[in-house]
Formats: sequence, structure tokens, C-alpha cells
Amino acid sequence: MKKMTNNIVFIGFMGVGKSTLAKMLAKKLKSVALDTDKIIENMESKKIKKIFESSGEEYFRELEKKVALWLETSVCNTVISTGGGLIHAENLNKIGKIIYLKSSFDGIIKRIENHPKSKEKLAKRPLLQDRKKAKELFKKRESLYEKKAGFIINIEKFKNEKEIIKELLKII
Ligand code: S3P
Repeated sequence: MKKMTNNIVFIGFMGVGKSTLAKMLAKKLKSVALDTDKIIENMESKKIKKIFESSGEEYFRELEKKVALWLETSVCNTVISTGGGLIHAENLNKIGKIIYLKSSFDGIIKRIENHPKSKEKLAKRPLLQDRKKAKELFKKRESLYEKKAGFIINIEKFKNEKEIIKELLKII
């Protein structure tokens, strides 16, 4: 029998607002939010940037897979925000209901640049440092996110995060 996890899983590119929205939605649902990057940082006692620097991307991807397996077997009734690359975990669809938070690349950059902590937001993401490479990664990832998504929310259609939450509450 298929395990019912009741988790909501946000996927999407870096900087689209997955963790902020997960926290907001969890509050509305009187549930709990978990973020895969935060779990990895706790596992390693290091920030993502440092993990990339000291152990490399491949090592980080292995940690993501480990976390994805743990989420599948051990987590339920939770709103989960994922790192943008967690879609490569083969068991993703077993973790919960997958919602793709979609935006154009320019929309994401604008969102980060307009954030009061924009410098911090940018600096903590190794794969956003080279804008050209980041755009190439975005193009490769778009179709993957779409394929894995149970629902797609185009965040650029909404005037603020509160409106996105209203829409999310309708579809979950
Ligand atoms: C990554 C996304 C980041 C973080 C890491 C790699 C990616 O998370 O996991 O820097 O490969 O897309 P956010 O999506 O929360 O920025």
C-alpha cells in the first residue's frame, strides 16, 4: 500500500521564494515547514556555500539524495521547500504533493535584487554567481520542474506572497 505522507513539496529554481512560501503556508495550515538546504547545513555544520567550496557539488548532491530518502520514509504533514537541484532525487514524487513555483529567469533576478537582503541572498548561492551559467542551468531545469510537478503556480501572476498563499490554499 502506498504511504500517505500528506507533505507539500515546493520545487523550483533558486530564489523563487520556496522557503518563504513554505513557512507562510505551514503557518496557515498549522503545520511545520522544513527546508532541505537547512537540513543539509545542519547535517554538515556548514553553510551550503562552504560545502560546495570544501567538498564540491557532487558531494552536496549525494547529501540531497540522502535527505530525499529521509523525507520519504520519516516525514509527514509537513510543507517542504527544496533546494533547486533536489528534483534530481529519484524518489521525489514519493515525498508528497509536488508544487512547482514557476517564474522567468529575469523575474527571479529581479526578485533577488529587490530584496532588502539581496547581497546575502546572492552570495549564499554558488550556482548564481555566474549569471550566464545560471541562465543556462535555468533553461535545462525548466522542463524537469514541469515534468515533476503535480501543480504549477506561476508566481509572476500574483502581486504578493499573500496572494500566492491564497492560490495555494485552493489547490492543496
Ligand atoms: C541549488 C539551489 C540552492 C542550493 C544550492 C544548489 C541548485 O537552493 O541547494 O545552492 O542546484 O539549484 P535554493 O533553490 O533554495 O536557492
